[in-house]
Amino acid sequence: MRGNRELTKMSTRRTGVWLCGARGSLATTVVLGARAIARGLCGTTGLVTALPELRPLPLVEPAAFVFGGWDVASTPLSEQARVLALDDRAIPADLPSAVAEDLRAVERSIRPGYRCGAMRSRAGQASVPARESLAATVARLGDDLDAFRAAHRLDTVIVVNLASTEGPITLGAEHRRLDSLRRLIQADRRQRVAASMVYAYAALERGFPYLNFTPSPALDVEALHELAHKQHVPFYGSDGKTGETLVKTVLAPLFRYRNLEVLSWEGFNILGGGDGRVLNDPRHKRAKVRTKSGVLATTLGYQPHTGVSIEYVPSLGNWKTAWDFVHFRGFLGTKMSIQFVWQGCDSILAAPLVLDLVRLTDLAHRKGEAGPMPHLACFFKDPFGVSVHSFTDQFRLLTEYVARTRRSLKGGGPGRST
Ligand SMILES: NC(=O)c1ccc[n+]([C@@H]2O[C@H](COP(=O)([O-])OP(=O)(O)OC[C@H]3O[C@@H](n4cnc5c(N)ncnc54)[C@H](O)[C@@H]3O)[C@@H](O)[C@H]2O)c1
Repeated sequence: MRGNRELTKMSTRRTGVWLCGARGSLATTVVLGARAIARGLCGTTGLVTALPELRPLPLVEPAAFVFGGWDVASTPLSEQARVLALDDRAIPADLPSAVAEDLRAVERSIRPGYRCGAMRSRAGQASVPARESLAATVARLGDDLDAFRAAHRLDTVIVVNLASTEGPITLGAEHRRLDSLRRLIQADRRQRVAASMVYAYAALERGFPYLNFTPSPALDVEALHELAHKQHVPFYGSDGKTGETLVKTVLAPLFRYRNLEVLSWEGFNILGGGDGRVLNDPRHKRAKVRTKSGVLATTLGYQPHTGVSIEYVPSLGNWKTAWDFVHFRGFLGTKMSIQFVWQGCDSILAAPLVLDLVRLTDLAHRKGEAGPMPHLACFFKDPFGVSVHSFTDQFRLLTEYVARTRRSLKGGGPGRST
């Protein structure tokens, strides 16, 4: 156990960030952003952890992060960065060359992932071991994390799922308990264990915190919560809240607190990029629509008529447009409406949140917290175990955590070595 002096001594801390889906648009933007901050090429706009409310927390600087990850694609990071800069115009044109050496260093720490059924026929794939049993995959992925930690002398490694959205999977009794999940893995039951579960299992089993920024089902599996508690590590998810749903969770309380009755809330989304391409598959789209759909009923206290559609428009690249139409009833039964159009650059909205989540998870881990981190609810569309969806109420969970942490740091409660 370490005391508070150790908890607040940040200068020597080295935190590894292991990105699952490391060659994707979002992961590449996370790396570009952290390295741009480190080199003084950009500020911290977009980072929640840079807000005055969070300043009392002793957080590791993004500049101190060491990156690695898994992917099943072989596209070099430099190529993904070029697409983001020149094709999508998502980042400054000269940023990829300014951090080219940093990208090369991260490239050396990207390992082959686990290829699930849906990815088998895609071009440009990394050499993922074929015919490897699930048990061997779990061991290989765990070894990747341990080797990364040892090679870079890291205090810990935070694993973040930024891989393509998987389709939903029907969970059964065998996903409820850790020993049954272990039996599924030992028996090589691939149809019952999604790739996101394999990664989460490998991370948690080796004692590394795990974050799920995607709608993939990893954290729906109770056996993995049992594993996190057993290994005494924190976890959280699912599905980063960056666009239409973020606006929804800010606007819905307005109707609730003015006693205006929402009759219909229809959302139409168009997006490009790899995420758009994957979500074009109806199974994968279902997983995304599910995490986007849950927010209104809990905030309003009733379920209005609602529709969420997501369409793939390749030419948009990393850009997304959402048009929402809200039809509502006021005094004397008069019907009115509000519409908004949200035009966002997907990875630019999400990347700073990933850096925030890693900083806050690193702190939770250092403090010896284990299990879900409900104070991170405001970052997610479907926050684990939190039924509050109003953005301001969720943000309050975070500021209350800051106040608690501040008190415990002042009071001299023990931190925990990781
Ligand atoms: N605003 C946002 O960008 C945002 C918000 C919320 C959630 N997300 C989620 O983040 C994820 C990444 O988004 P993106 O825009 O970077 O997508 P992307 O298509 O650009 O990148 C996904 C990466 O995951 C890799 N991948 C696919 N299957 C894999 C597997 N089995 N193992 C390891 N890697 C695998 C792909 O090869 C690709 O490099 C998606 O699931 C998306 O829904 C993004």
